Amino acid sequence: MPHILIDNLKDFSFPLKISEVEFLFKAEHLIAVKTNISKFFIEIKKKQKGYLIKYDKITRPLISEIKKAYLAFVKLNDANIVFENISGIKEKLPDKNLLDIADDLNKTDIVEIGFGSGRHLLHLAKKYPDKNILGIEIHKPSIEQVLKRIEQEKIKNIKIINHDARIILSKIPSNSLHSIYVHFPVPWDKKPHRRVINENFLEEAQRVLQKNGFLHLRTDSENYFSYSLKEFLNFKNAQIEIKKNIPYEIISKYEQRWINQGKNIYDLYLFCLEESPQINQDFDFSFEKKLKNIDFEPKIYDNFVIHFEKIFKIDENNELIKATIGNFNKPEHIYIVNNKKPYYFKPPAPVKDNFLAHIKLKRLFDG
Ligand SMILES: C[S@@+](CC[C@H](N)C(=O)[O-])C[C@H]1O[C@@H](n2cnc3c(N)ncnc32)[C@H](O)[C@@H]1O
Repeated sequence: MPHILIDNLKDFSFPLKISEVEFLFKAEHLIAVKTNISKFFIEIKKKQKGYLIKYDKITRPLISEIKKAYLAFVKLNDANIVFENISGIKEKLPDKNLLDIADDLNKTDIVEIGFGSGRHLLHLAKKYPDKNILGIEIHKPSIEQVLKRIEQEKIKNIKIINHDARIILSKIPSNSLHSIYVHFPVPWDKKPHRRVINENFLEEAQRVLQKNGFLHLRTDSENYFSYSLKEFLNFKNAQIEIKKNIPYEIISKYEQRWINQGKNIYDLYLFCLEESPQINQDFDFSFEKKLKNIDFEPKIYDNFVIHFEKIFKIDENNELIKATIGNFNKPEHIYIVNNKKPYYFKPPAPVKDNFLAHIKLKRLFDG
């Protein structure tokens, strides 16, 4: 982790600005930093030989911005650097085909979830040259490998996002997808709550699919197949198609392994029969009132959580609250500056479960 050790620390009143780096406020050992492209906290820790400066993992900025902030902080304190590990670090620019959760996903036509080695994702791009394909994957090495292939093969219609698919669908407009593919998902027999396919996910899948659009599950797990069929049948009107051991257009790495072992392969198609209402995706993450009675007990609501973790004092009237909110399976750490008109130091990712948690938070704020 990039850090520096400095020999001197001055006492300041914030805000302060050094070239393009603004130091906004101090909340105990955290200092809020703003550069032209990033907003994050640096942390100060007293050590025997000086002061250790690190960045706060939750507000994780680009390394170039950390370097800038550290160097400005050294200048501000008239300090000498006793130790640093930042000079050799090279910034890797984000790939143009790699999207962020805050990016617009409105132009997506086809989604593949958990694309792994990407054989099927690349196949889709060739099969549907006029459609925009979004690959959602949580495994970073797979993402890097597939991004390389996209670059090498000059593929123009694939974008990738590194996130949990169960959260991403809420960012896609209603009735917009031609198809969703979930091929050989991890069966999670012992931890079924981790499965991609669940009730909430299917509701979102139905909402984002066009009329006659489909969700395709292909799996070697009889257990996952039966579980998914049951979930599919929970819809009042469901058109379902089942196939067993029927060869598919392309064989993925996983499939090859199961074929070699002589396992059965199941296909399950869920067709969308009707149009869904549009939903408002302009999530407004603003507050009006200061939070008064903070309860540190974690709260679990339908599909989201709110957990206040810690409060850091800024001054007599203001405090910084560290909390976890959002999707039960993948909540997000956030900071709220709790003053007369509170605000997120960095707003949560614009997805439905964060917004639902925000609405609940607002109610708590209103007492
Ligand atoms: C067994 S592999 C199958 C890969 C590929 N579809 C194939 O057929 O070769 C399952 C993949 O799903 C990804 N995955 C698991 N849970 C996920 C989630 N919630 N969101 C996105 N990807 C997920 C894993 O990282 C893994 O790459």
